[in-house]
Amino acid sequence: MDAIKIALLGMGTVGTGVVKILANNAHSITQKVGSPVVIKKILVKNPNKARNVTTDAELVTDFDEILRDPEIKIIVEIMGGETPAKDYMLSALKAGKNVVTANKDVVAKYGRELFEAAEASHVDFLFEASVGGGIPIIRPLKQCLAANYISEIMGIVNGTTNYMLTKMTNEKMDYADVLAEAQAKGYAEADPTADVGGYDAARKIAILASIAFGARVTFDDVSVEGITNISIEDIEYARELGFIIKLLAIAKQDEHGISVRVHPAFLPANHPLASVNDVFNAIFIKGDAVGETMFYGRGAGELPTASAVTADIIDVARDIRHNVSSRILCTCFEQKPIYPANKIESPYYIRLLVEDKPGVLAAISGAFGSQQVSLHSVIQKRKVERSTELVLITYRVSDENIRLAIGTLLGMSVVRKVSSVIRVEAEEIS
Ligand code: NAP
Ligand code: HSE
Repeated sequence: MDAIKIALLGMGTVGTGVVKILANNAHSITQKVGSPVVIKKILVKNPNKARNVTTDAELVTDFDEILRDPEIKIIVEIMGGETPAKDYMLSALKAGKNVVTANKDVVAKYGRELFEAAEASHVDFLFEASVGGGIPIIRPLKQCLAANYISEIMGIVNGTTNYMLTKMTNEKMDYADVLAEAQAKGYAEADPTADVGGYDAARKIAILASIAFGARVTFDDVSVEGITNISIEDIEYARELGFIIKLLAIAKQDEHGISVRVHPAFLPANHPLASVNDVFNAIFIKGDAVGETMFYGRGAGELPTASAVTADIIDVARDIRHNVSSRILCTCFEQKPIYPANKIESPYYIRLLVEDKPGVLAAISGAFGSQQVSLHSVIQKRKVERSTELVLITYRVSDENIRLAIGTLLGMSVVRKVSSVIRVEAEEIS
């Protein structure tokens, strides 16, 4: 039972979790693989940094020490970022090493190149932790649901923003304070703009859509909007109207192509995703044979993410033991058109500050009507100085038309401010 030697690139939040799991569950992992799995080397930026885990592995700062070590069969990239992570993974694959990663930035952008390198070298390239943290989702899509035509994926795939929105909704916590909390818990990316700006979720839905629809979808194909403009006022109005605000990632395919988007949305309070709180993620998948399935669990954090990374390590180690490799690599077999973002349709919530005088409501409905936007409801909320706050919900309208309508409103002398424009995901308003 020769040990299978591996190396980690990074020992931050996720790396620490992998070190702990491989140590704590060593006995059962050895039984499952048929050999012990041992971390030989770990690449870090600063070898003198205090760590909250102990390891017998050698800490190194030069990637070549890992690349050139013939004993190391699996390289686990958990350092994050595009550079040098992508180059390290590519060099590892080309050198015949199996690669496991949690890096959605690289998978969403350079997936094809990495798969090709893995295929050419007959090695494994696994990335379960890149989407949904500890939730099994990549493997279920590639394997358990492989028999289906998948038409829709809808989910909450960013733990940081779900944690933030939950705290803002339930405890009325301030945006900056709750972001700092999410960072302290190890949920956020090194640059949290990726989380709050919706880019992290966009990378994840690009990865899921590529696998589910069998066609390459990249980060650039996703229409993205984050939560930076969501205010406590909108959260409160949503609650009054029977909605909860969530950051959603949605991918759909039909006979014309694929639409992929990430944006905050008003969800009916009784929608199953509305009760997914804190760092939890949930992903709905609709297949023609299976119907609807839902995957739920912790979407970020040390041990949940390390659970997915370590499971990939175990899978590769089993392949090494059984002398097989690269059984399931790239599944993007077709090219499918991507819907332009401005053609995607939804109902919208709009919050406006308008002059408080007769005829204003009629003028505003006229402005919406001129851009083919029908109003589902108009509610006059509080007075703000000498203005009135209006909350409107539209029927389903394209992104293009809502932008034109907002442009018209901004040109009207009676409109003082368009405070918020947020999509509504509700079947009953269509
Ligand atoms: P992290 O806490 O910032 O840790 C990064 C680690 O990589 C650190 O150990 C750092 O070394 C090392 N590192 C970074 N750049 C390096 C370089 N140029 N050379 C050598 N070492 C370098 O990051 P993390 O939260 O563990 O995330 C790692 C990856 O997992 C990212 O791709 C992230 O998107 C993904 N991920 C994270 C989570 C989560 O909940 N955190 C969940 C899912 C996926 P030092 O320790 O010396 O600074
Ligand atoms: N920053 C990411 C999140 C980590 O909050 O979901 C998990 O991918």
